Amino acid sequence: MRSGGQRVSFTRRLLAWYARSARDLPWRRTRDPYRVLVSEVMLQQTQVSRVSEFYPRFLERFPTVQHLARAEPRAVREAWDGLGYYARASNLHALARVVSRDFDGRVPENPQALLKLPGVGPYTAGAVASFAYEKPVPAVDTNVARVIRRVFFGRETGTRKRETNVWRTAAALVPKNGKKAWKFNQAIMELGALICVARKPRCPECPVRTVCRTGKRRGRRLDV
Ligand code: ADE
Repeated sequence: MRSGGQRVSFTRRLLAWYARSARDLPWRRTRDPYRVLVSEVMLQQTQVSRVSEFYPRFLERFPTVQHLARAEPRAVREAWDGLGYYARASNLHALARVVSRDFDGRVPENPQALLKLPGVGPYTAGAVASFAYEKPVPAVDTNVARVIRRVFFGRETGTRKRETNVWRTAAALVPKNGKKAWKFNQAIMELGALICVARKPRCPECPVRTVCRTGKRRGRRLDV
């Protein structure tokens, strides 16, 4: 299959699967940029089940970017306790102060501006632009990179060049329509979290198996 055709089939199948299988997660019910940002920072290194527990509590305590900006470091640390990797919390706190002071409390919408904020890398910048502002941009975290690698590149070993190709492929895949792009980015993450998992991918249940360079070679289960 030519790569354009593979991409179109992949996206169609992925979106149909997401419509029937998506989990109802709290951060998927909001477009509030601050709330999206908090969820993405928490999800960077913490499991969905744990984040689901801490996220509402954190937002109750710091409901807006201004509340967080004004908080004492000790209060932020306390609210983060149990999530680990505390550097994320202190970056988020610093970010709230910058946004409050320099952006009138509005989280920027353009990925280039987002990238300049404390603790924000290419993934978080893309995630906030897409999930809060419905911009048609890619958001590639480790789960998404794994899906793209397996589906489009097969099982080559990791190189810097291939990571660039993964972002390029993600950019080519993301629908131009922002609402559809939002769904696409959530869906590819969901596939990486539920089916195309790192250790024992569930290829027999996978909605994109027939267009996957890795999964269609292996009839049943893939051990990588
Ligand atoms: N991991 C990172 N972002 C996520 C999201 N929006 N939904 C589920 N898992 C995620």
